[in-house]
Amino acid sequence: MKTILSVGLGLSLAAGAALAQDKKGAAGDAGKGKEVFEQCGVCHNADSEEKKMGPGLKGLFKKAKMANGKKPSDATVKEVINNGGNGMPSYQDMLTDEEKAHLLAFLKTI
Ligand code: HEC
Repeated sequence: MKTILSVGLGLSLAAGAALAQDKKGAAGDAGKGKEVFEQCGVCHNADSEEKKMGPGLKGLFKKAKMANGKKPSDATVKEVINNGGNGMPSYQDMLTDEEKAHLLAFLKTI
């Protein structure tokens, strides 16, 4: 009985730790995101809304909607990054999920 209890407790602790890590990963790091953004900077301004190749991304998350009509959120912006289209490259396989999470964190600061 005692063993069953401690195994159970061990498992739930491990699951809890994994969850906490996932959350940390999903939150992203804006500093690292800025580095990832360097490759986007060829086509996007981060410090203005002025168009380069693509629209300036300053204040992206404060906009009511993007060019595709969707309200900017983690999910919809990630969708644009993954799928691209209309001159925007697809980053589905070019960036890891972690790098995308960092990018989203950075985009929220501009
Ligand atoms: C080769 C040039 C190019 C690169 C590199 C590029 N983009 Fe884009 N991006 C575009 C173009 C062009 C559009 C406009 C597409 C449209 O109007 O549908 C766009 C649109 C977007 C949008 C939607 C903005 C809006 O208001 O609708 C986001 C967000 C975005 N890009 C993020 C990124 C991120 C993040 C990166 C780097 C991982 C990146 N882009 C790299 C060209 C580029």
